[in-house]
Amino acid sequence: MRKPSLGGNPKVWSNEEVTQYDMMQSIVIPKKDEMLDIITSMIPFDENKALKVMEIGVGLGALTERIFNRFPESDFLGIDGSAQMIANAQERLKKFSGKIKILERNFNKPLWLNGVNDKFDLVCSSLTLHYLSTRRRREFFKEIFKVLKKKGTFIYSCAVKANSQSIQKIFVKIHRKYLRDQILKVMGKKFTDEDLDRVFKKRRDKMGINPATTVDHLDLLKKAGFSKVEFIWKHRHYAIFMGVK
Ligand SMILES: C[S@@+](CC[C@H](N)C(=O)[O-])C[C@H]1O[C@@H](n2cnc3c(N)ncnc32)[C@H](O)[C@@H]1O
Repeated sequence: MRKPSLGGNPKVWSNEEVTQYDMMQSIVIPKKDEMLDIITSMIPFDENKALKVMEIGVGLGALTERIFNRFPESDFLGIDGSAQMIANAQERLKKFSGKIKILERNFNKPLWLNGVNDKFDLVCSSLTLHYLSTRRRREFFKEIFKVLKKKGTFIYSCAVKANSQSIQKIFVKIHRKYLRDQILKVMGKKFTDEDLDRVFKKRRDKMGINPATTVDHLDLLKKAGFSKVEFIWKHRHYAIFMGVK
């Protein structure tokens, strides 16, 4: 078993994790479309501006596509640690080719930004930063601050844990019921709470999910140097944060 504090190893994003990605997301993530729409709508720039954008954890490009639709002139650097995700994303995003470059990098390694010399108006991410290792968190936020231009914006969603065990237990209970209903609806399978706990523990261990609290996130943003820091949205254990340099 991989220790949660080590965060995710992106190599686990292969085979069925990629081919069944959209189906799995539709089961496990409540309000994903709303979350992506909110991230996109909070970007504080003019639509005609040719933004320089970096996205961390592109996956199959769900956020990338929305950002391009709002900012068609933008130039895009994607980062993802999974070669298979990147290949699929490139295929899916080919209508934007020429405007997008995706690098295979693991942000849990200190040199993940080697060779990236541009400065960005926007750094964004969706459902990825809970794979950061505990040891890398502080440095990672400083690295993001550094690659942003003056007044550049960092906006991201990720899984968070509650600030207290007792409240975390309530989130787990609500989410368990949600998953049970979703699995029945989408896959026609009946799962007990015990089945679900077992499957999802195995999954958390495999993927290296390592969420911080909302308080930690605001602190990480402030300590990295962001002058404006905002907690934008939350639904159960998914949250959106924003920092302006
Ligand atoms: C849950 S998916 C999110 C994808 C997309 N942003 C979305 O919202 O659908 C997480 C993505 O982060 C990538 N990832 C996970 N750990 C990573 C790491 N340590 N370094 C780089 N990418 C990583 C995975 O390969 C995967 O594509």
